[in-house]
Amino acid sequence: MSGHVISVLLFLALHQLLVLPVVAYTALSDNFLKLVPSGGDDFDIDNGKLLAPILIPRVAGTPGQTVAQKHFLNFFATELPEWSVEWYNSTSTTPATGNRQIPFANLVFKREPPWVREGQSNLLTLVAHYDSKITPNGFIGAIDSAAPCAILMHVARTLDKYVTQMYDEMSALGEGGTVEMDMGVQILLLDGEEAFQSWTATDSLYGSRALAELWESSPHPAMSFYRNPLDQISMFVLLDLLGSANPIVPSYIQTTHWAYKNMATIEDRMRKLGLLESSPKHPFLAEAKKHTFYPSGVDDDHRPFMARGVPVLHLIPSPFPSVWHKMEDDGAHLDMPTVRDWARIVGAFALEWLDMMEVEPKGDAGAAALS
Ligand SMILES: *[C@@H]1O[C@H](CO)[C@@H](O)[C@H](O)[C@H]1NC(C)=O
Ligand SMILES: [Zn+2]
Repeated sequence: MSGHVISVLLFLALHQLLVLPVVAYTALSDNFLKLVPSGGDDFDIDNGKLLAPILIPRVAGTPGQTVAQKHFLNFFATELPEWSVEWYNSTSTTPATGNRQIPFANLVFKREPPWVREGQSNLLTLVAHYDSKITPNGFIGAIDSAAPCAILMHVARTLDKYVTQMYDEMSALGEGGTVEMDMGVQILLLDGEEAFQSWTATDSLYGSRALAELWESSPHPAMSFYRNPLDQISMFVLLDLLGSANPIVPSYIQTTHWAYKNMATIEDRMRKLGLLESSPKHPFLAEAKKHTFYPSGVDDDHRPFMARGVPVLHLIPSPFPSVWHKMEDDGAHLDMPTVRDWARIVGAFALEWLDMMEVEPKGDAGAAALS
């Protein structure tokens, strides 16, 4: 064998070693960050198509619950028809409603590569609860969590065209079928987060407890890459109490602090590029440099998932906004620049997570997307 052939083989071998095992994670370019849309008037509290229809009481077992469900279903059916829909229904009594079985219904909207079999894709999982608290009477829960639900609908819409392009290109090239590349995204809109009487382990998280239990006991077929739907969750990103001005969202969880830092970097870059509307005293994600972690006392929908080993990024301000669980938590008390900035930050984070630099818009296409 000639030296030349050996060096070519060596090069190929090294190339394989160096290139293949690396999970791609490429930061979005400045240009791409500029293209991340804010949602604009779609968050308008009177006429906007995302948020206005769900600024109503949405207690499980009441008509508002059905209105909210129909709003989500209609949005995905008309704007994002390629996303699959799954219902996860359960019932439970509550300490405030006697013997009546209250219906809880989680909705899962999912977009994954067309070539995957069951249990093959890893799923960025974006989560908010859509139920509202039963008291005070007439409570709307705009930050808790109508606005986070609307933000996630917008993020799904932001992702869709790039995800579609990515899947089309990968299909054409015959790529896919490797663990890192089979990436998808799902939006969990959870029911029954709020306590009916007072927050306890059993009077709270009705929807998330039922879903985490079900998914844990729903194994995928033998030889599936992931054992069950919990195992497919690459990151459980929970949005809660977002939409008031000047939020400070700490980094709660040491094992996912790296993901928090990725999002904090995106916020910082967007602020420096002048892409965010709010001008808070502190960044929303103010703890990128944190070193010492204490167990978080904030109980929320992540708990049943985290207890089963799912990685969690918890986006909830501390302290809680002053309107928390008060009548004032309504549309009028939202800070719209903050809502739109969260939509941009979470949208950019999700694009980056899904490695969308692969389909970065160029030139005129980019300029057109700005409008
Ligand atoms: C779940 O409940 C909703 C109403 O809350 C209903 O429309 C839907 O068909 C149910 N789905 C399943 C799978 O039971
Ligand atoms: Zn609440």
